[in-house]
Amino acid sequence: MSFPARVVDALRCSVCASPVTLDERTLRCAQRHSFDLARQGYVNLLHARIPAGTADTAPMVDARAAFLASGAYAPLAAAIADAAGATTGLVIDAGAGPGYYLSRVLDGAPEAVGLALDVSAIALRRAARAHARLGAAVWNLWEPWPVGDGVASVVLDVFSPRNASEFHRVLTPGGKLVVASPLPGHLAELGDLVLAVDSRKEERLEAALGGFFARESAVEVVRTGEFSAAQVRDVVAMGPAGFHLDRDNRRERLAAAAGRAVTVAVSVSVWRQR
Ligand SMILES: C[S@@+](CC[C@H](N)C(=O)[O-])C[C@H]1O[C@@H](n2cnc3c(N)ncnc32)[C@H](O)[C@@H]1O
Ligand SMILES: [Zn+2]
Repeated sequence: MSFPARVVDALRCSVCASPVTLDERTLRCAQRHSFDLARQGYVNLLHARIPAGTADTAPMVDARAAFLASGAYAPLAAAIADAAGATTGLVIDAGAGPGYYLSRVLDGAPEAVGLALDVSAIALRRAARAHARLGAAVWNLWEPWPVGDGVASVVLDVFSPRNASEFHRVLTPGGKLVVASPLPGHLAELGDLVLAVDSRKEERLEAALGGFFARESAVEVVRTGEFSAAQVRDVVAMGPAGFHLDRDNRRERLAAAAGRAVTVAVSVSVWRQR
């Protein structure tokens, strides 16, 4: 497990922003800052502590990986891969988690390489082995990214924090930003077992991105189907509400939701730089 050379070329030192090279299992810049690859294949470029509660925890990541492996979001992954297209360049997944969507995009783009960024090292252990053509780096998306200008042909953001100015800077002119965000009605049958979708989400997306990007197209992935007991448990445990399962009879309500029809409703939009 290592970093594809083209991904190393796109990375910059997170201390001084110089280019880096991979020497055995260490990334180094000319100023002698160095970052060791973890045994699991990802690299941690952070040098500041991140606030507690920011990164997905091990139980959340395990639940997310199990839920995604169940295929419940396969149509969403297909729509995201379709929106990204068969690019030959670098695809950066901002808040990649276990790397599920980035892997599907790389499957559909055999000449592309991928960079998974996430603040959760636990999630990136999985991402690092999710696909042979991706590298994974621990980073806080709200800080300037350890990535060169204009290096990416596609940036993905699937249910993750959106740093519009960094999206804009790292994309090559003419590159694509692909954003997946929940629509009203998403997982609605699960009530307050999951975070409610803000009814002004679309407006907020426009407000967050509109200064740097114009929306080119959008598709809605909407389907209602039965969720198994395991799918219900995992979809709840992978989100922030998973922390509070012992409150308000949630465990009983979780068990009662098994086998019920649940709606998945997500918008996948493509944005271009202004
Ligand atoms: C809802 S999950 C989505 C993960 C993945 N895109 C997926 O859909 O499977 C949000 C992800 O963003 C990461 N995250 C949250 N805040 C972050 C930050 N400030 N910088 C980097 N990653 C962050 C979390 O660790 C988590 O993996
Ligand atoms: Zn440096």
